[in-house]
Amino acid sequence: MEVYNLRNTKEKILFVCLGNICRSPAAEGVMRAMVERAGVEEQFELDSAGTYGGHAGDLPDSRMRSAASARGYLLTHRARRFREDDYYDFDRIIVMDDRNYEDVSRLAPERKYLQKVYRFVEFCRHHPQWSYVPDPYYEGREGFELVLDLLEDVVLSVRLMDFHGMGLLVDGSDIDFRAECLICLCKYVALAGLGFDSEVEVSCIM
Ligand code: 4NP
Repeated sequence: MEVYNLRNTKEKILFVCLGNICRSPAAEGVMRAMVERAGVEEQFELDSAGTYGGHAGDLPDSRMRSAASARGYLLTHRARRFREDDYYDFDRIIVMDDRNYEDVSRLAPERKYLQKVYRFVEFCRHHPQWSYVPDPYYEGREGFELVLDLLEDVVLSVRLMDFHGMGLLVDGSDIDFRAECLICLCKYVALAGLGFDSEVEVSCIM
């Protein structure tokens, strides 16, 4: 059995919101915690940015840090503005709402780069009622909790796993292994690498 990674490179993901002090640094922090917990941090490069540069250099909003910390996430990102070069530097640019989508799209160097832009909620599994991640900046505590609920739903989704392009090859053919999420697949691949066979059960950490 051979473990393969179609990309053989890191998956570079940039999360984008307006100010880069609430939603996108939290998305980065939650995703980072998840991949670290699964021991697959080497396979990802994560960052976040804002379309508005007014908070550049700032730590995430204290309300976001406090809500995230209560769930075990340490947010240490320093805000920066989204720039055209991000289209060259990242594989996926994941935005929080329609306004972010428009602002980010306007900076695309060429039309083909728009293929890299995704809406965050596209990856949600349990929140079909949300077509965007709502800006919590002028909201109360519930607004920040809702953002974290959405982020925790998204970061483990199967679509991110598909992006990563990992799989298993047994006797020259793909095995049909359906992991529930990215972390399951990475754990499975890690176990396979350690010599366990395809019967190994992998449970989701969620
Ligand atoms: P974020 O939230 O886009 O999730 O970081 C906001 C942060 C700051 C502002 C707006 C939204 N602001 O207007 O300064």
